[in-house]
Amino acid sequence: MRTLYLIGFMGSGKSTVGQELSKLLGIPCIDTDHMIENVYKVKIAEIFQNKGESVFRKFETEILKQTPVHHHIVSTGGGIVETEENITFMKANGNIVFLKTSLNEIEMRLSNDRSRPLWNKNSYEKQRLFDRRNKLYKESADIIIHTDDKNSREIAADIKEQAGLQSYQE
Ligand code: S3P
Repeated sequence: MRTLYLIGFMGSGKSTVGQELSKLLGIPCIDTDHMIENVYKVKIAEIFQNKGESVFRKFETEILKQTPVHHHIVSTGGGIVETEENITFMKANGNIVFLKTSLNEIEMRLSNDRSRPLWNKNSYEKQRLFDRRNKLYKESADIIIHTDDKNSREIAADIKEQAGLQSYQE
């Protein structure tokens, strides 16, 4: 199986759904944000604060390229689509699943979140980022899964069905 890349806005559930799908299919899941923090030994918020977004994007691309291209699920950061090279890499090496979540739902999920540097914006800027990103996610995706009003189990089951995946569990 070619790797399955989960993309979508902050708070769309990529990491949680990745774990759920990993259990369902019996294949490993890697999270690029966790990998960045483990490899560079620094928190994402600190990278943004001390080095800026452009350095974070370089780290993100480096890490994405190190992820296995077979038999894995890779959950990505919401801004993975900001770098064209990342989209090219994911398209060449696997299938891209866009977890589509409404801005209302995201606002609810992230209402108390202070850990995401790019969520710390006013409503107008959030809406603009959301609209711009949604266009990029849609253009990159092989499969689009609507996530509002579904739990991570249901979303994982939807992905399995729509991507025509088999389970590797015994
Ligand atoms: C980002 C999303 C974050 C993280 C970083 C930048 C973005 O990941 O990669 O804060 O640009 O949308 P999540 O999508 O897991 O929140």
